[in-house]
Amino acid sequence: MKQLAVVLAFAALTAAASVAFGGQLPATGVNGSMHDMNMISGAQQDTLQRVCVFCHTPHNATKDDQANGDNYPLWNHTLVDTTGWQSYQWATPANNALTIYDPLQGPSRLCMSCHDGVTAIDEHGPALAQAGGRALSGDRAVGRNKDLTDDHPIGFSYVDAVNARNTNSQELALTTDRFATNVTLSPTAGTYNTVDRTSGKRAIGDVLYGGSIMTCASCHDVHNKDNAVDAVASNGIQYNYFLWAKEKDSLICLSCHIK
Ligand code: HEC
Ligand code: HEC
Ligand code: HEC
Ligand code: HEC
Repeated sequence: MKQLAVVLAFAALTAAASVAFGGQLPATGVNGSMHDMNMISGAQQDTLQRVCVFCHTPHNATKDDQANGDNYPLWNHTLVDTTGWQSYQWATPANNALTIYDPLQGPSRLCMSCHDGVTAIDEHGPALAQAGGRALSGDRAVGRNKDLTDDHPIGFSYVDAVNARNTNSQELALTTDRFATNVTLSPTAGTYNTVDRTSGKRAIGDVLYGGSIMTCASCHDVHNKDNAVDAVASNGIQYNYFLWAKEKDSLICLSCHIK
């Protein structure tokens, strides 16, 4: 019994240790995740160990610019320059009617205030200002060189897409459908698999800006709260990419695309 207790205590200790070193826990909120700037190696920590401060502040935040369609949630991080961004070009003629006016519409410009590869992730302000110097690089800098031509299209209306693509056969899930949780393969050739789009936590419409616009936040859960966690671990880390649906079976893609 005593031996078991020792083993258990050791297991608890090593679990705690791997938590401390991993630092990137799936589905446990912002604290301790990759969006907790205090955890990022080479980044300057906040003097009071605050977590939200790198993105939000309760007072003296960046003002909304609603006249230009910008709705900032008490934003407290340098905003990216929104001019001169190159957006994705449609490959499918059926999509040509879908206009991308501004690829950074909605919260995407907030993501780009770190994922542009230029703006420091460890700075914050205007309130409680702190200078920083750590920028993202490589694949994590999704919008490097203001280039979104090689990224999944954003900044267009999902509702328009549903109207354009669902006329002959259903190509896209409805906004009331939920992120996919499971796929059951059809045993019959010519019959589409069954994809469960009813039991997920979020509906597609909940993550469209203004109820229609596709943004970075239409696929990603910035706060790491309701995202779907893959059981598969790689190098000891359960990557979740902050996604609303699992990577396994490409459930994230099947959430919207009926393929
Ligand atoms: C890495 C940046 C980042 C951090 C850190 C962060 N947020 Fe956010 N937050 C965002 C972004 C981006 C949005 C807009 C997301 C959207 O529209 O989907 C947002 C939106 C919100 C909203 C309004 C929409 C909603 O989801 O309810 C609240 C409230 C909020 N954040 C609270 C917090 C709190 C509390 C913390 C700290 C525990 C925090 N956030 C940490 C980036 C961040
Ligand atoms: C259509 C869904 C979708 C949209 C929209 C989307 N992403 Fe992603 N993103 C993913 C998936 C899925 C992954 C996981 C990697 C993979 O499967 O290739 C990912 C991975 C990432 C990564 C990690 C890349 C890496 O290689 O480590 C970052 C950073 C990221 N996305 C940021 C963004 C930002 C910023 C935006 C908006 C400009 C955005 N994403 C828009 C689906 C999306
Ligand atoms: C305050 C800076 C900041 C903001 C704002 C921000 N991120 Fe991040 N993000 C980071 C950092 C730092 C990492 C971790 C990079 C690393 O470890 O190399 C990261 C990682 C990620 C990853 C990779 C997760 C993984 O498991 O590999 C995704 C996806 C992502 N962010 C999406 C977003 C999206 C979408 C938004 C906007 C809704 C956003 N981020 C806003 C700083 C930010
Ligand atoms: C939140 C909904 C959503 C998710 C999740 C999503 N997509 Fe899309 N995607 C769309 C919409 C809407 C379009 C535009 C209409 C269309 O092509 O069906 C689009 C367009 C595309 C296109 C471009 C078509 C063209 O004409 O150039 C490809 C390819 C694509 N998606 C693949 C993926 C893959 C792969 C994933 C998973 C990693 C994914 N999508 C996840 C909504 C989504």
